[in-house]
Amino acid sequence: MPDPTPTAPTRSAQPRSHFNNWISAVGGVLSVGALFSFALLVWIDFTQGDKNPYLGIFTYIVAPGFLITGLALVFVGAWAQRRWAVQHAAAPDKWRLDFSNPSQRRRLLLFGCGGVIFLLLSVFGSYQTYHYSESDQFCGEVCHRAMSPEFVAYQRGAHARVSCVDCHIGSGAQWFIKAKINGTHQLIAYALDNYSRPIATPIKNLRPAQDICEKCHWPEKFHGNVDLTFAHYLSDRSNTPYGVRMLMRVNTNRAGSPAGGIHWHVNQNEKVEYYAADEKRQDIPWMRVTDKRNGTARVFRTEAFKGEPPAAQIRTMDCMDCHNRPAHVFPTVNEAVEKALAAGTLSLQLPNIKLEAVKALVQKDITTEANAPQKIAAYLTAKYNGAPGLAAAITEVQRLYTITLFPERKADWRVYPNNIGHKDWPGCFRCHDDKHKTASGAAVRSSDCTSCHVILAQGKGSEFELLNAKGLDFQHPGGELDPDLTCSDCHNGGIQK
Ligand code: HEC
Ligand code: HEC
Ligand code: HEC
Ligand code: HEC
Ligand code: HEC
Ligand code: HEC
Repeated sequence: MPDPTPTAPTRSAQPRSHFNNWISAVGGVLSVGALFSFALLVWIDFTQGDKNPYLGIFTYIVAPGFLITGLALVFVGAWAQRRWAVQHAAAPDKWRLDFSNPSQRRRLLLFGCGGVIFLLLSVFGSYQTYHYSESDQFCGEVCHRAMSPEFVAYQRGAHARVSCVDCHIGSGAQWFIKAKINGTHQLIAYALDNYSRPIATPIKNLRPAQDICEKCHWPEKFHGNVDLTFAHYLSDRSNTPYGVRMLMRVNTNRAGSPAGGIHWHVNQNEKVEYYAADEKRQDIPWMRVTDKRNGTARVFRTEAFKGEPPAAQIRTMDCMDCHNRPAHVFPTVNEAVEKALAAGTLSLQLPNIKLEAVKALVQKDITTEANAPQKIAAYLTAKYNGAPGLAAAITEVQRLYTITLFPERKADWRVYPNNIGHKDWPGCFRCHDDKHKTASGAAVRSSDCTSCHVILAQGKGSEFELLNAKGLDFQHPGGELDPDLTCSDCHNGGIQK
């Protein structure tokens, strides 16, 4: 068949653009696709991405990356075509797109269809990317090396159905920009594998607690007390159960002021501020209570702390100063073992299993997640050689390891203190310790054992069933309490010091 386009010879005689070649065409399609995705992502980012810091990385780094690659291909194609034409004067058109050539036309048609599909896919892909980068899976699993400890802990907490982004990223222009910069920074650190292990806390750029927590827990809703039971097992041969049941005075009505009790710290009329001498906010030598109604202030300080704290480091107390582990609590190994004993997943039959399970978990030579199962098995086998139930105990202790210790991230209860109580970490006793005094010598009120909670029942077996509404004196199973020591001087979550 004769060529149907008679003008072809004249056209090829004209000087043609070097951009007219296959490589540049591929680059062109890629660039247009990337530009499309970029535009779409920018639009999503500005209209709905306010809660999503990681979208930025796709929008401002990945999509432009493709755009630059596409544009580079366009120029590489032109350069290669020109070089070819210069070196092969006889057949200069090797890579040119030639619409007059039927076989090339067919290829072009295919190429065109492919290009259109590519564009559609890139639009679809961008939208999926947006959804994905917003999900809890993305936070918890994709960055799994960095965040898996939090993800594991989170799934067992009261907030397991609250998205990571609900607490970590807020709406509003200011948080939007902060989160964008921070999210991009984090992903880069993650990609380069140089993020800090453990991830440092307290997190400084978390939104104010009022914005986060009070969306669901508004202070007007707080009322009454909370009944808590702590089930322990002693480190003796029979793993004796020992429980404490107590009523937490979370919201107690007080004459003249409706907001008494533990949540008094966040009441509307008064403000509690403090200065912490360390990064982790565990050492608090100074605090101030200001009555917002008349502006009077009371300052408490430890004897050793002289002078004034730097104004920029004074922090107003909010929910997070006590509930600093609302969603991902790292349990102590003690607690993890006790929970398993209480649930029956770890049998009480093996003598001393409470103590030995804890010891198996905190062995010094467990250095990675990979060598833990074998070390735990070896330890317990040596202790209980051939005892019935040993195999099940090993499996359970190995499982406990995976939910409490994360050597790869260097994350566990020892680096992430929980400030809510005072047994394993200083917690409330950072301030309620009778060592902080006003200039006139008044100590912080509410620092005796019954001002925060009432012990309703304690002990084991039938002892634990006797309720006492007035409150019992605490019977310490580890012997008489030494008033000069605080609980966390001995209790450290693992083996008692
Ligand atoms: C109920 C609110 C809430 C939810 C939901 C939440 N977090 Fe957190 N998260 C916090 C608070 C508060 C801190 C700060 C702790 C501190 O500063 O001591 C924090 C700290 C962190 C840290 C720093 C390291 C650490 O353990 O303290 C990481 C990482 C983290 N969260 C990841 C996640 C991931 C991943 C999810 C979802 C699977 C999630 N968070 C869900 C409130 C939350
Ligand atoms: C999106 C809603 C939401 C947000 C935001 C939220 N919570 Fe919660 N919170 C819940 C729900 C739901 C529960 C579970 C209530 C239940 O178990 O009955 C809960 C339970 C709790 C409990 C009881 C814990 C327990 O073990 O039973 C505490 C304490 C708490 N939240 C504190 C906080 C703090 C502090 C913040 C801010 C960092 C916060 N919450 C943010 C919804 C939320
Ligand atoms: C002084 C420390 C402290 C501060 C500050 C604090 N809480 Fe609590 N909160 C507690 C304690 C202690 C409990 C009792 C439960 C426990 O011991 O685990 C509790 C219980 C709760 C509960 C569950 C019981 C209930 O009444 O529903 C919620 C929800 C809660 N707090 C939310 C908040 C929020 C939101 C804020 C900030 C506005 C806040 N808390 C500030 C110490 C504090
Ligand atoms: C940053 C220091 C600080 C921390 C941490 C702290 N408190 Fe307080 N708390 C105070 C101060 C200051 C007062 C007021 C003392 C006074 O007026 O004499 C107070 C008062 C109280 C009161 C009495 C409220 C009333 O009805 O008048 C209770 C109960 C209480 N705290 C419980 C707790 C519990 C429980 C925790 C730990 C979860 C805790 N506090 C952690 C500083 C702190
Ligand atoms: C400033 C408030 C405050 C004071 C004072 C206080 N406690 Fe507590 N205590 C708490 C809170 C809050 C918890 C709950 C921790 C939690 O929710 O995990 C707690 C928990 C406990 C527990 C249970 C811990 C466990 O894991 O079994 C015991 C036992 C206890 N307190 C004994 C005492 C004794 C004894 C004193 C007096 C020396 C005392 N408390 C003084 C706030 C206080
Ligand atoms: C001198 C060190 C020391 C001090 C201080 C101390 N304990 Fe203990 N405690 C022990 C020992 C030892 C045991 C017995 C451990 C066992 O049998 O597992 C124990 C057991 C316990 C138990 C039951 C078992 C367990 O492992 O949880 C509770 C609850 C407890 N102590 C609470 C407290 C509280 C609350 C305080 C502070 C008011 C405190 N202890 C202060 C050493 C101490």
